Amino acid sequence: MKVTAIVGTYRKGGMIDQAVDAVLSGAAENGAETRKIYLIDQHIEFCTNCRTCTQTEGPKRGPCPLKDDMGAILDELDASDALVLASPMNFWTVTAVMKRFIERLVCLAYWPWGAYSPKNRNVELKKRAVLVASSAAPALLARLMTRMVGLMKNVSTILGAKNIGTLFIGIAGHKAHPALSARNKEKARKLGRKLVGG
Ligand SMILES: Cc1cc2nc3c(=O)[nH]c(=O)nc-3n(C[C@H](O)[C@H](O)[C@H](O)COP(=O)(O)O)c2cc1C
Repeated sequence: MKVTAIVGTYRKGGMIDQAVDAVLSGAAENGAETRKIYLIDQHIEFCTNCRTCTQTEGPKRGPCPLKDDMGAILDELDASDALVLASPMNFWTVTAVMKRFIERLVCLAYWPWGAYSPKNRNVELKKRAVLVASSAAPALLARLMTRMVGLMKNVSTILGAKNIGTLFIGIAGHKAHPALSARNKEKARKLGRKLVGG
């Protein structure tokens, strides 16, 4: 079983990174092969809304004219059984690198010119997904103020994955080098085990 994490933080070793590591170590405990993709290390162009990729019907994503790393990332996600989607909350939503990645997922919809709205190509949710988010605000308050969890749940669905749990870490911005608490570490590992073990 393969678990791939899409990581939208700007800080390796920061709060999101530590939490993702804990989720992946839980998954590895249950026998998964894991991989972490930092979006900041990838060459990902902005979607230009040409909609070339949305014109052909069927389960296969349409061709994108942009030449960058996005095709390889999507191939990797296709080959994964479970996903981790992780982002800090910046200005009450996901980071810009995560949003840039999300916009490129339009190729996973059939949306010909003339149709008012897109249809997901992934109709069956064969994979599982765990979401990880962090904020400077306390988690309860942040979750009330943000729509990023709903957005990331939609992204899971677009990627053909059912969300099986969310870890939202509050008070993550008051130290230059924040440490994941033992409680959140255990929650993250548990979610990782659940991703793989049922
Ligand atoms: C540009 C920017 C905007 C931010 N906006 C918010 C915000 O709207 N609400 C909040 O609670 N925290 C906000 N934060 C704090 C980050 O969410 C926090 O530092 C991050 O979750 C820590 O994760 P990391 O260690 O992976 O970077 C912001 C931080 C930055 C740099």
